[in-house]
Amino acid sequence: MTLEVVPEPSKLGTKSHWDEVYAREVDNYRAAGDEGECWFGLDAASDMVEWAQEHVPPEKKPKVLDLGCGNGHLLFSLAQEGDYDTSLMTGVDYAPASIELSRAIATQRGIAGITWKVVDIFEQTSASAESYDLALDKGTFDAISLAPTRQTRWHLSAHVVQLDERRAAQ
Ligand SMILES: C[S@@+](CC[C@H](N)C(=O)[O-])C[C@H]1O[C@@H](n2cnc3c(N)ncnc32)[C@H](O)[C@@H]1O
Repeated sequence: MTLEVVPEPSKLGTKSHWDEVYAREVDNYRAAGDEGECWFGLDAASDMVEWAQEHVPPEKKPKVLDLGCGNGHLLFSLAQEGDYDTSLMTGVDYAPASIELSRAIATQRGIAGITWKVVDIFEQTSASAESYDLALDKGTFDAISLAPTRQTRWHLSAHVVQLDERRAAQ
């Protein structure tokens, strides 16, 4: 697969941007209990829960991965609206403050069991060696496609090709 439209690079594609965003979100959360921005709005998360329930229902006890989990909202929606098992959920993000925020919100909401990890999804780590039944992202693919470096973009297209090849092989 070829990415034919390559968007202009933006700070939204840099780690330093997300480090700053989530450091601020952690401060806001501590000061005012504000859980912060849910990308594309609350309805988007609910739509994704509905999609997941139809295609990978919670009764099958799927292992779920949220790539670039931000404030953890998507996993909270899967747990609270979708009845997915939190002990089978992992949220990863390369911004440490995002993971700190997700953990704090989970504790405050009384949601236990989710594994939270600081991971760059392009790095080969023990986390990337795990396999999952359902891997979701909301806004992360968009952010990555705005990365200023050619290398990250190359990684992105290589991953899309791998996913495509696997899908074709099924
Ligand atoms: C637009 S935000 C979306 C956050 C969250 N998924 C939501 O829906 O609110 C993009 C997220 O992707 C994360 N991210 C971007 N590139 C990443 C990478 N290479 N590895 C891990 N996380 C990444 C950012 O830190 C940020 O949390």
